[in-house]
Amino acid sequence: MTAPASLYAPRPCRLLETSDLTPQEKLFRLQLADGTSPGHQPGQFIQLSLPGLTEAPISIASSPTRGPVFELGVRRAGRLTSALHQLAPGTTIGIRGPFGRPFQLDALRGGPLLLIAGGCGLAPLRSLIQYCQDRPEEFGAVHILYGARSPDDLMFKDDLAAWQHSDRFDCRTTVDRTPAASCYDGDTGLLPELLSRLDFDPTDCRAVLVGPPPMYRPVIAELRRLGLDGDRRIMLSLERQMRCGVGKCGHCSIEHLYCCSDGPVFWLEEVENLRGAL
Ligand SMILES: Cc1cc2nc3c(=O)[nH]c(=O)nc-3n(C[C@H](O)[C@H](O)[C@H](O)COP(=O)(O)OP(=O)(O)OC[C@H]3O[C@@H](n4cnc5c(N)ncnc54)[C@H](O)[C@@H]3O)c2cc1C
Ligand code: FES
Repeated sequence: MTAPASLYAPRPCRLLETSDLTPQEKLFRLQLADGTSPGHQPGQFIQLSLPGLTEAPISIASSPTRGPVFELGVRRAGRLTSALHQLAPGTTIGIRGPFGRPFQLDALRGGPLLLIAGGCGLAPLRSLIQYCQDRPEEFGAVHILYGARSPDDLMFKDDLAAWQHSDRFDCRTTVDRTPAASCYDGDTGLLPELLSRLDFDPTDCRAVLVGPPPMYRPVIAELRRLGLDGDRRIMLSLERQMRCGVGKCGHCSIEHLYCCSDGPVFWLEEVENLRGAL
């Protein structure tokens, strides 16, 4: 992994474009002021800063195969992300990074993949999905399963439609509830139910999970029931509140691990028995 020029000094970055993804999430297209690529790998995050406000860790939602312009999908959660949602194209923001352990691409190459996201977790997973799309010769069959609370809460709807029409992917969505007047035509129910109806060969299959904490245990239990057991079969990305982002302050610790530098991507067996990890 290439170390960034400075771990602590934010690099100026120009906001090129914004668009609404859902009522609470926006897409941000950015480019570093010097025109270079951020140098990330799928699964890594940046520490985003605005003048006068703290930083926030945000996953890069686009693949490094797409060139120097990169994208973030950001939920309006608190002070910094609300301020970010107000910015107009042309504004300069700061980024540190990319940081963190990415998805382990070497382990994902070859066999079939189950890429499973809940809610905002589709943002980091989108980087990996685009990577698989751009390097089709490196990957086996790719199943994408995405769950959200309601049809309105589905992020990246244009991408989901394109993935559903692509020969490259088997892409399915599910929502917790469908309003009566909705024209949504995907599944309804929780992700484990969608998973239980999937037709796939678990031999050599690997799963990648990114989503809210309550998603992990039920999805993992279903994956194991379907035959994904043993070491290095299930990879997941965890979120913790962060400060330094580079393994120095201890703010993001999960027992002896730092989410920012040992993760955010872990193999299940690395964290499953750690207190409060899942
Ligand atoms: C590795 C990593 C990648 C992330 N990627 C994304 C992303 O791609 N898109 C996105 O929208 N968000 C992402 N987040 C979450 C994002 O960092 C927080 O929502 C953000 O820090 C909130 O900042 P704020 O100042 O707007 O809100 P604050 O005022 O700091 O917090 C608002 C609320 O969010 C909670 N919160 C803050 N940080 C976190 C966190 N890390 N995990 C869970 N809850 C938190 C606070 O407890 C509070 O309840 C990621 C977090 C991590 C650790
Ligand atoms: S945020 Fe400082 S050690 Fe992880």
